[in-house]
This record gives sequence, C-alpha cells and structure tokens, in this order.
Amino acid sequence: MAVLIELKDVKVYFEESAGFMKKRIVKALDGVSLKVDEGENVLVVGESGSGKTTMGRVIVGLQRPTSGLALFRGRDIYKLKGNDYKEYRRSVQWVPQDPYSSLDPYMTVREILAAPLRRWGIRDVDSTAAELLSMVGLKPPELFLGKYPHQLSGGQRQRVAIARALAVNPKLIVADEPVTMIDSSLRVSILDVIAELKRKIGLALVFITHDLAIARYLAHKSGGGRAVVMYKGVIVEEGDLEEIIRRPSSPYTQLLIKSVPDIRRPLSL
Ligand SMILES: Nc1ncnc2c1ncn2[C@@H]1O[C@H](COP(=O)(O)OP(=O)(O)OP(=O)(O)O)[C@@H](O)[C@H]1O
Ligand SMILES: [Mg+2]
Repeated sequence: MAVLIELKDVKVYFEESAGFMKKRIVKALDGVSLKVDEGENVLVVGESGSGKTTMGRVIVGLQRPTSGLALFRGRDIYKLKGNDYKEYRRSVQWVPQDPYSSLDPYMTVREILAAPLRRWGIRDVDSTAAELLSMVGLKPPELFLGKYPHQLSGGQRQRVAIARALAVNPKLIVADEPVTMIDSSLRVSILDVIAELKRKIGLALVFITHDLAIARYLAHKSGGGRAVVMYKGVIVEEGDLEEIIRRPSSPYTQLLIKSVPDIRRPLSL
C-alpha cells in the first residue's frame, strides 16, 4: 500500500505564559512518527491533552511542526505549492469536533456543500450535493438542502460536516472526536455512516477519540483498525486495536482500558 501521510519525529511546542514574565513550554507533540497508508483505518486514542488534536492539525496542514517533517506522498506538506498544494488540500480533509462552529451559520446546506464543489470544478452541483446528503443519511436531501445549520440537530450538523469533507472526493479524512459533542443516542448512527463510507469508498481515516469504546465500535464496523495510543505528546503504543485491548503493553493503555467499563465484553456503546 502506498504511504499517504508520514510524520517523522514531529515536535510541536507552544509557549505559554505562566504568570508575570514567566514562560512555560508546552510540548503538545514531542517526537511523533507515524505512517498512514492509503485506505488505512487509524484510531488515535489517548487521554485529554495527550496531543491528539495537535497531531490531526499537523496532518491536515493547520499546525506547522516546531521540528520534524510532515509528508504527503513523500513531500513536505508545509512546503507544497501551486497544484501540489491544491492536490493535497483536496486529498486530505478535516472533520472538526464541533460541527456548529465549523459550519457557516449564514449558509444553507446547499451553499455549504456547493462551495467546495465549485472550488474544485465539480459540475452538477445540485445533484452532487443531494447525493452527498444521501450518503451521510440525510434523506430525502430536498428536506435539508435549504436549511441553515441552526435548523439542524447536532447529529445532522455533523453529517453535513462529513458530507462537506466528502464533497471533494478525498483520500483521507481526519476526524477529531466527531461524535463527542453528539447525543449518545445518535452516536452509533454517525459512526455507522463513517464506517460505511470508509468501506465503500476505500477512504483512509484518522479517527481521533479519547473514548476507546468508540474507537472499538468504529474499528469493528469498518473491518478493523490500527490503534495509536498517545500520552503526553508521544505515541506509547501502536498496533491492531483489538490486539491492544486484549494485551496492552503500555501502562497508559491499561489506564485507558480501565476507564471504559466492560470494554472487553462484546460490543456495545
Ligand atoms: N494553540 C495552543 N497554545 C498553547 N497550548 C496548546 C495549544 N494547542 C494545544 N495546546 C496544548 O497542547 C497539549 C495537547 O493538546 P491537544 O489539544 O492536542 O490534546 P488532545 O489530546 O486533543 O486533548 P483533548 O482530548 O482534550 O481534545 C495540551 O496541553 C494543550 O493545552
Ligand atoms: Mg482534542
């Protein structure tokens, strides 16, 4: 399988003020190396503050590393120009945690989906938008095309955010806690949509969550997945998710597993 994304010893340090004239360095990522192959399913797990979102942002081009390399098909993401940059921006899409703040409140769903379609020269904007909505389970599409984000439920908004990411036919979607802010009753259906898309389109997925049960559900539904366990800015364990849950080698993974009641029991959310 071809390597889509590679991080090589990526460090991201932030400077924080710690009172008068004092500065503190926060090591959000402290030497992360990772490969994501085409079509691969990568589940990034770890406690709050372990660097998951920062890693996602490095991959999607939103956070320049302090040091180290972030590569798209072997080339430095932060040095891409012209058509290469366009190709990367199209291939790698981001689904952020909060679908409300990421969707323009003054745009209808049709406009939200039309913008990327037009940008990438995709014709038949209306029929493609309708098709995208069906793909994420917003049916019938006519019911949703004219609506504004505030007229949608949290779950529906997140589906629109996923549809928007899919609009440009990406190779990789990086989803940052896409169901965390959604009612638990709606989580399963959104995870099912993501898993189905993953299988159907052969998309690569980097799915970020602090919740091992969610990671496990998604991996199960999409035919397996590789877990990347983070702790304080480093990857402490990596491998097949089920295998890791059965035999965690890092104490931090063990803690994560303990925080989910009944994780070893048959699947439920
Ligand atoms: N822009 C920033 N400026 C300063 N510190 C930051 C910034 N972004 C992240 N951090 C810090 O970097 C560390 C990692 O943050 P990050 O958001 O990547 O963690 P996370 O694993 O996504 O956590 P959560 O599960 O809570 O979303 C944290 O200590 C955070 O406070
Ligand atoms: Mg985060």
